[in-house]
Amino acid sequence: MHRKAIFAAGLLTISVTACGSAEQPEVVEQIVVREPGSPQVVAAEASATVAGAVDLFAVGEDAFQSCTGCHSVDPDGRSASGPNLYGVMGREAGSLDGYSYSDAFAASEIVWDEASLDGFLADPTGYIPGSEMMAGAVPDGEARKAIIAYLSAQTDNAPGQ
Ligand code: HEC
Repeated sequence: MHRKAIFAAGLLTISVTACGSAEQPEVVEQIVVREPGSPQVVAAEASATVAGAVDLFAVGEDAFQSCTGCHSVDPDGRSASGPNLYGVMGREAGSLDGYSYSDAFAASEIVWDEASLDGFLADPTGYIPGSEMMAGAVPDGEARKAIIAYLSAQTDNAPGQ
């Protein structure tokens, strides 16, 4: 291995000297980076693995920033222009005391679970016609999944709390 490197360096010195081209140093870089088992290759593989392990909760927390203009997940229960969403998983739609829902919400018999939240967030006014949630639709299925994972953890019943 060591010998090979010296040999390659020697060859390059010769070719650089031979043609005197300014482009030759690029070749040196290619040889070093692509050498199998080199630290550069190992580092690139490791960071690809880390990026592949997606943390749904963190992605959901991030995506939920588009909801915080209207919703809080504070355990204090206070609502903003939209109802407080702390403990929303398992709650009946339109049932938070002290929040004034649309008639459509109040009359719906939906219980929030993964499937109903997914349907509602994909199309709030289509899922509950008459809903007053005029913004906050999440067309991307992966983003909905992440937001739902995040909301599921906003409760005192979450595992580990
Ligand atoms: C423009 C303000 C606004 C935005 C932005 C918004 N919402 Fe809403 N949301 C509302 C309102 C208002 C209601 C109540 C609708 C009604 O009474 O018809 C509601 C209701 C809900 C409900 C039902 C809660 C219950 O108590 O039944 C959920 C769940 C919800 N929103 C989730 C979200 C999520 C997740 C986002 C972000 C992706 C979001 N909302 C973005 C205003 C908003």
